[in-house]
Amino acid sequence: MNTRQHHLGSGFGARSTTDDVLAGTDLTGRTALVTGGASGLGRETVRALARAGAHVLVAVRDPAGAAEALRGIPGAEPLALDLGDPDSVRACAERVLAAGRVLDLVIANAGIMACPETRLGPGWEAHFAVNHLGHYALVNRLRPALNPAGARVVVVASSGHFLSDIRWDDLHFRTGYDRWLAYAQSKTANALFALHLDALGAAHGLHAFAVHPGSILTPLQRHVPREEQVAQGWMSEDGTPAEGFKSPAQGAATTVWAATSPLLDGHGGAYCQDCDIAGPATTDDMLVGGVKPWATDRDAAARLWELSAELTGVDGFTP
Ligand SMILES: NC(=O)c1ccc[n+]([C@@H]2O[C@H](COP(=O)([O-])OP(=O)(O)OC[C@H]3O[C@@H](n4cnc5c(N)ncnc54)[C@H](OP(=O)(O)O)[C@@H]3O)[C@@H](O)[C@H]2O)c1
Repeated sequence: MNTRQHHLGSGFGARSTTDDVLAGTDLTGRTALVTGGASGLGRETVRALARAGAHVLVAVRDPAGAAEALRGIPGAEPLALDLGDPDSVRACAERVLAAGRVLDLVIANAGIMACPETRLGPGWEAHFAVNHLGHYALVNRLRPALNPAGARVVVVASSGHFLSDIRWDDLHFRTGYDRWLAYAQSKTANALFALHLDALGAAHGLHAFAVHPGSILTPLQRHVPREEQVAQGWMSEDGTPAEGFKSPAQGAATTVWAATSPLLDGHGGAYCQDCDIAGPATTDDMLVGGVKPWATDRDAAARLWELSAELTGVDGFTP
């Protein structure tokens, strides 16, 4: 069964920026945790939330480097986290809990894309392990810190999900690796994670959303050779982003909108893009976006949750 995806008419769009979306929003006294918040869309998300008054825990692999990248953003506090290492995920959550933090927002933003084949821990495929399982375990371990009076989790997915459903019979690409399908599967997993987290979280005052930020040139493309980016039409020879690409402030706008907009009350689990709920995909063109049916399938979301709980040994929500 699919969730209902329909535009709300938010008044914002593809060109809206983080500051447009948060104008007039006061996050003083709120605490957010943003993964991968030292570069690209994550850094812009941190900047915008902090500017609106939030205290922002910035969970990153290199806290010293992050402190440098976040210089000039008051209210941003680096915290060590490697999503590919279950011990690091546990330690990060334990530090947040031990400090008595109450989290109003968790932004599961960190991600890797199109990496050469990499195996983590028990042989897990790296995109699935970092982009999905790491965030699954982190949010589940953070459950006691989520504000019971109302918290939101925003999972940064992608229209990259267009290329693959969950590969139920070969999650870890044992039968042959494809870097784009690996990214795609992990992004479908991000959308399904938000969907089932919302279903289970509602009883705990928690709502979750998935977002596609748009296409933005950031360090995410580090594994894609420049010639390939030009050939794909992402940029011109001189590095100018293609038409339709967004700036980081436009890309992160949907994340901060999903994190804060009262319009989304009652729409938990939705997949969003361009600062609104996305409609069903009507094309295979990822630049146009929308959401494919396999990324909004509630039964698949429940199945993925169960599988993720088995793999990580963590489940903070299932009664
Ligand atoms: N840019 C786009 O066009 C686009 C489109 C659709 C979706 N997205 C999504 O947007 C999100 C942010 O991407 P971005 O474009 O801002 O790229 P980015 O600048 O590369 O940000 C990704 C962040 O994830 C962090 N990260 C990677 N592996 C990690 C790990 N094992 N543990 C903890 N953190 C880790 C990276 O930190 P390190 O510096 O330590 O590697 C980096 O800060 C991603 O989830 C991506 O899939 C982006």
